[in-house]
Amino acid sequence: MTKQRIISTNHLSETLSELLSELSYDRLFVLTDEHTARLCYPLIEQTLSEGYHITIPAGDDNKHIDTLCHVWEELSSHGATRHSLLINVGGGMVTDLGGFAAATYKRGIHYINMPTTLLSMVDAAVGGKTGINLHSLKNEIGAFCPADTVVVCSTFLQTLDTANLVSGFAEMLKHGLISTEEHWAQLMHFDLNNPDLAELQQLIMESIHTKEHIVEQDPTEQHIRKALNLGHTLGHAYETLAMRHGTPCLHGYAVAWGLIGELYLSHLREGFPADKLRQMLSYIKEVYGTPSFSCADYDELYELMKHDKKNVAGEIRFTLLGNIGDIRINRTATREEILEMLDFVRES
Ligand code: GLY
Repeated sequence: MTKQRIISTNHLSETLSELLSELSYDRLFVLTDEHTARLCYPLIEQTLSEGYHITIPAGDDNKHIDTLCHVWEELSSHGATRHSLLINVGGGMVTDLGGFAAATYKRGIHYINMPTTLLSMVDAAVGGKTGINLHSLKNEIGAFCPADTVVVCSTFLQTLDTANLVSGFAEMLKHGLISTEEHWAQLMHFDLNNPDLAELQQLIMESIHTKEHIVEQDPTEQHIRKALNLGHTLGHAYETLAMRHGTPCLHGYAVAWGLIGELYLSHLREGFPADKLRQMLSYIKEVYGTPSFSCADYDELYELMKHDKKNVAGEIRFTLLGNIGDIRINRTATREEILEMLDFVRES
């Protein structure tokens, strides 16, 4: 898999003009959802005026085959060829679906991601995972197909509400935990209530480099890319539970609570230091609050973890840490330890 070019900029129009002048393509297409069409597209509309604009409905509920068909049809009916270029402007839903449209249209066209949420800047838009949901199964259909270029501009974050900023920051905390103590400490000291966008841009780039470094070693998640699943075994289970209970939560909040559970397991099984666990716990409680589940939900959470697509031979697999940056993949735990983890997340 080829390496993506990552461009960090605060001058969107200049950067885009330069980028487009370097690339050879016959027709340009720009994909947004209805939110980014309103909030973000105006910032780049003039520079991309030659492009045909496709808009799709927003939200993960719409990340399905019908929306994908609409994008394919729009590309086809407006003359896209194998040499056309697609620019995805949006959060993870747009970059995942748009990336998959690009990966499959005429067996693959070039595309650029312009992530507009913190979550998509540090995670979805980089690393080459593209795809759509199949009914309630998230990202069930997809392909590894990296964007040619990812343009990262924190100006877009001015349009993002605090909850979504905090949600995206959970993936950055995860990257901090799997990288170095220094980067983790920088993140823990960042003021999310009064974010300095220049400082955030630097932290975002560091976060992306952490992910890129891992993806380069294992693009298709056979081994070390599983490090990026830290916090996600419990996090995904909780996200599904919350959805089923009619109280959906943002992905990053579920990941933050998942991190606490999985750091607790890391402490139990791999000797992750108690002081760092305590530090993370008080940070997550302060910034993300606490999840709402009770003992009555334990069986369902356990079953959801058992059906995680990352498991092997029906056994729940976790990514754990021996310390910050000391990654242990493919770890198991007993049912008792997992229930103890749930107690810890709920009660602490
Ligand atoms: N979101 C985790 C990964 O890209 O592997």
